[in-house]
Amino acid sequence: MLFGKTILITGVASGIGARTAELAGQLGADVIGVDMREPVDHQGIFVKADISSKAGVDDLVARLPQRLDALCNVAGLSGNTGAAPTLAVNFYGLRALSEALAPKLREGGAIVNVASIAGYGWRANLNRAASMVSVEGFPDVPRVIADHAVKNEEGYPVSKELLLLWTFRAAHQELFKSRGIRINAVSPGPVETPILKQFRSVLGDAKVDSDIARVGRAGTSGDIAPVVLFLCSDGARWINGANVPVDGGLEASINAEVLGF
Ligand SMILES: NC(=O)c1ccc[n+]([C@@H]2O[C@H](COP(=O)([O-])OP(=O)(O)OC[C@H]3O[C@@H](n4cnc5c(N)ncnc54)[C@H](O)[C@@H]3O)[C@@H](O)[C@H]2O)c1
Repeated sequence: MLFGKTILITGVASGIGARTAELAGQLGADVIGVDMREPVDHQGIFVKADISSKAGVDDLVARLPQRLDALCNVAGLSGNTGAAPTLAVNFYGLRALSEALAPKLREGGAIVNVASIAGYGWRANLNRAASMVSVEGFPDVPRVIADHAVKNEEGYPVSKELLLLWTFRAAHQELFKSRGIRINAVSPGPVETPILKQFRSVLGDAKVDSDIARVGRAGTSGDIAPVVLFLCSDGARWINGANVPVDGGLEASINAEVLGF
């Protein structure tokens, strides 16, 4: 499915990113893995980088080859270190990396953003999300947070709301559209990876357990990776600006409750 493609995947030292890198290799891709931590075992080339600052993103981009077929933005923080680092990695760093790599992505290439069911509130919080997405470049993140009155504990959901809204917008952004680069999001529900323990401490066991109970089990990295990679493949060539929930039906169940059907 991915034979001959070069795919850059962030967050490869753990969880969903690690499984996505492994599967991409099995499906024939040449993988360039990125993480701030060295993976124990990795597929293809590994580049150590921290995408939480403009300097970190610039340094990473300078070390990458000229031609890529796809970028999978998987690296993320849970919010347990506060809103500023979380928004810096989960949104502003990810967006800066995507924009900087656009010229290196081949025509018809793809970007896949791993968002979350936690970003469900993007419609309800549209004005705030739109204003925060409209701040260009790699901003002074604590200042953006203060300007938009984001509470420290809201960092994770807000980061994913911004990511979803930007995905919808970026699909029509000249930088990507003019070269036929598709941008989509995948939104997992709770997935059994190291970050889930942190979600339990940020959100509380009751919230995580009730989400899991709605769909019968937590997801695994192996549930998410194939969908991320399908969106990188030419089989997804007419899918653009979409958010694909990969959550065993969690979002459908929340929609039924919220919309009353
Ligand atoms: N596990 C879940 O329940 C769940 C649910 C919904 C969405 N997600 C999303 O899936 C993505 C992957 O999460 P996971 O479950 O694999 O978590 P994880 O903690 O297992 O892996 C995250 C990886 O991102 C890396 N990373 C963090 N900050 C970085 C930085 N500044 N620069 C480079 N790398 C950095 C970490 O080192 C780690 O290897 C995240 O974006 C997360 O928000 C996870």
